[in-house]
Amino acid sequence: MAGRIARSFIDDLVSRVDIVEVIDARVPLKKAGREYEACCPFHNEKTPSFKVNQQKQFYHCFGCKAGGSAITFLMEYDHLEFVEAIEELAKHIGVEVEYEEGGRFDPEQQRLQKEAKTNLYDLLGQCDRFYRQQLRQHPKASIAVDYLKERGLSGEVAARYNIGYAPAGNNIEGASQGSADQLVTTGMLIRKDNGETYDRFRQRIMFPIRDSRGRVIGFGGRIIPETNSENDASDVKGPKYLNSPETPLFHKGQELYGLYETRQALRDIPRLLVVEGYMDVIALAQQGILYAVASLGTACTPEHVQKLFRLTSDVVFCFDGDRAGHEAAWRALENTLPVLQGAQQIRFLFLPDGEDPDSMVRKVGKQAFEQQIEQAQSLSQYFFDHLREGIGRHDLEAHRSLIDRAKPYLQKMSDAAYKSLLIKDLASYTQRDERDLHGLLGSRPSTHAPTVRINPNTNQQLPPSLVRTALRCLLFHPPLATSLDESKSLSQIDQPGIGLLLDLLEILKMNPTLTTAALLERWRGTIEGQHLAKLATWQPTLNDPESLQQEFLGAIERLQAQHLSARTDTLLAKANQGFLSPEEKTELQTLLSRTSAKNPVQT
Ligand code: UTP
Ligand code: MN
Repeated sequence: MAGRIARSFIDDLVSRVDIVEVIDARVPLKKAGREYEACCPFHNEKTPSFKVNQQKQFYHCFGCKAGGSAITFLMEYDHLEFVEAIEELAKHIGVEVEYEEGGRFDPEQQRLQKEAKTNLYDLLGQCDRFYRQQLRQHPKASIAVDYLKERGLSGEVAARYNIGYAPAGNNIEGASQGSADQLVTTGMLIRKDNGETYDRFRQRIMFPIRDSRGRVIGFGGRIIPETNSENDASDVKGPKYLNSPETPLFHKGQELYGLYETRQALRDIPRLLVVEGYMDVIALAQQGILYAVASLGTACTPEHVQKLFRLTSDVVFCFDGDRAGHEAAWRALENTLPVLQGAQQIRFLFLPDGEDPDSMVRKVGKQAFEQQIEQAQSLSQYFFDHLREGIGRHDLEAHRSLIDRAKPYLQKMSDAAYKSLLIKDLASYTQRDERDLHGLLGSRPSTHAPTVRINPNTNQQLPPSLVRTALRCLLFHPPLATSLDESKSLSQIDQPGIGLLLDLLEILKMNPTLTTAALLERWRGTIEGQHLAKLATWQPTLNDPESLQQEFLGAIERLQAQHLSARTDTLLAKANQGFLSPEEKTELQTLLSRTSAKNPVQT
């Protein structure tokens, strides 16, 4: 398995790509003074508050506060994962991503791993092309085509989802350039105990599963119901759907069927609908509902949920009204609660018993189906409805059981605002005081409504401080770090943010040419990172290098002076009480001779 991406690689990448070029290719930029600007692609606006700074390699929107490096931009704008964004940028400048292996980087091993994996992707691409070609050309493909037509699919939608046909018999080894071993590794062949292999997918309609970059990583294959006697009966067996097993490329718990196609179809994804089946996704797309994804026959995992919320803040789970549907819904809720944050909304839609999204949307049409989505149950409604099942009555005991049942779920929630909202509803159901319930659950009431993403560390107006002044000067012009005399020790200073300042200086000492954006990458996904990103938007009033350096060194000197004078005060106070150790006495004498000789030492 490939390890983490090498830090030095990220540094290098962020300094080598030009953020202006990357963004301009997606959002045309205009030069405005020293920066570039555009109307922000992340919120609606008429006058540009989206700025791109070439020197810092950093973008920032003064309206919606979006901001970051070229990597961040690709993650937000192209909806890529971190590693994908890096791969995209690497491709853009024509280099290979470097991974670390257990802390040590072995380029040869990494090259081999990468090559092996690339081969597997290629191999599945070949399988995918083969199945699609078979759907068009195989003499018996008409049973598949007829079946798809009967289910209401147009050629256009079948093409969008790359639907294919796996003929009867063993074909895949001859149809692809892969070795039998590789085909077993990717799940396309199954090896029997006696060593012989056979095609996993035979006589099935094939649904390729694509990752977020569009590469085929696995397949689902649906049995084709027997409509005539020409079917080779020995092959029309087994479960209705066969899926690829877990392979180096395919991890069920992380992938969502249809997500790639949704992202291709929609620039903005206002909402994602999570359904159960391949055919549900496709039937919805056929009716013009392009934002459905399926969790591939497994329960929705926390990874799934996080993936969904990276693309939209409105997720609706849609389940069949039967028992299995209700069970799946509850598991989805259990997996979602702990990771739910801020403005993220999940809702639940239950279809009438016997219906699935496919049958439903074909019956009622797009508009009526979307109306049902609008009316989906809120998280709180579903949560308490489910917990109240079987306790019904409004008496003290019923209230107590409801609290008992809710408790373990609420305790697992990490978002205080969300938790408060549910506790508020619990309080009203049980006629208890909200604060009592918080006490019972060991939580603190949140004053924030969960409709906005609140981070107390970044949303306040930060009062100016010397540490902050130094930080923002460094972020504005990282080479300033070299102007600092090494002997000036800051490490003893006890002030908020000093650790961060020291880290920044340390990194810049080792890599004096890092850009602001590359620097910020070190703190990706941390509170400190948000804090630094905010400081990085600062513009000095006087932008000549000398004034900037003066401001920076001035702040550092004042920090040190403050520290020394505080230390002097402490030691003096101790001296007055006669508690000074010999070392402290020497220290105090040095301190006093350095600053002023106004207060002679009393010994
Ligand atoms: P369903 O049985 O609801 O299938 O399974 P469906 O999507 O409605 O299929 P059609 O409409 O009959 O074609 C939902 C999902 O569960 C997984 C598949 O991912 C399927 O899409 N499943 C189901 C399997 O993996 N194997 C099975 O045998 C059945
Ligand atoms: Mn169905």
